Amino acid sequence: MTKDFLCLSDWTLEDLEKIFDLTRELKEKQKEGTPHKLLEGQTLGMLFEKSSTRTRVSFEVSMFQLGGHALFLHSGTTQMGRGEPIKDTARVMARYCDGIMIRTYSQAAIEEFAEQCYVPVINGLTDLYHPCQLMADLFTVSEHKKDYRNLKYCWIGDGNNMANSWINAAAVFGFELRVATPKGYEANAEVISQAEKAGAKLIFSNDPQEAAAGADVLNTDVWASMGQEEEQQEREKAFAGFQINSELVKLAAPQSVVMHCLPAHRDEEITDEVIEGPHSIIFDEAENRLHVQKAIMATMMAR
Ligand code: CP
Ligand code: NVA
Repeated sequence: MTKDFLCLSDWTLEDLEKIFDLTRELKEKQKEGTPHKLLEGQTLGMLFEKSSTRTRVSFEVSMFQLGGHALFLHSGTTQMGRGEPIKDTARVMARYCDGIMIRTYSQAAIEEFAEQCYVPVINGLTDLYHPCQLMADLFTVSEHKKDYRNLKYCWIGDGNNMANSWINAAAVFGFELRVATPKGYEANAEVISQAEKAGAKLIFSNDPQEAAAGADVLNTDVWASMGQEEEQQEREKAFAGFQINSELVKLAAPQSVVMHCLPAHRDEEITDEVIEGPHSIIFDEAENRLHVQKAIMATMMAR
């Protein structure tokens, strides 16, 4: 087990499955109203350089339910926003907090922060990865399907932080992952090469129909991520045909499930009909951010 949770492939399958076991236990306790104050008296510092609804709320509620406290900081209102070096901020925050969650742009910045910080650091999304979301996603599949590691997964859309994290997950968990992106919007080449070296079963194409055919799990995300808002129009053109809609779902396995990390642009990358339809497990996926992050923090921060 490493000190930090920055990227799924830093962790072993065994450790990640232990986190899923604890997630199941904590979710059950929360549903039956049994206290599970595993982090009593501890504080999580949450540093955001980008917007958030789910990540902020789920981490804050997680810490409350674990008997601790979460502190919300937006970079614009901190000295970091005025240029205080990352390494100084990291060293100071480590002296106040028992764990830090950061949402920022660069993966290198979060890695530098973690190096300088002796308490655990959790990646709440960077341009490169979104590992907590992936843990929630896979846990959700495991609740809906037997043998979640033996399914065919597909990613349709942008080769963004979520796609990169799915590629990491394919390497660690060993499932088949088909990735269909428009030309010029592929996932990170270094991430792909590392996953392939680790034996990941990855199939790349520019054809969403081919990727969806017979798939058990269909996944997508917005076409323009945070920080790419100015590219929205040109991306809409490039991604035409990459929508998850009822026709595409019909090509998948009959009992397929559809996922989206949210926020979604309804009727753009995914139709309203599919989000609200019988294959969608999107809101269970959102709920599980809470349960899985409690298990991640309890694993990393327990004294
Ligand atoms: N899925 C996700 O991370 O959502 P937020 O941007 O609302 O945190
Ligand atoms: N790819 C999206 C994910 C949001 C949770 C983004 O980075 O904006």
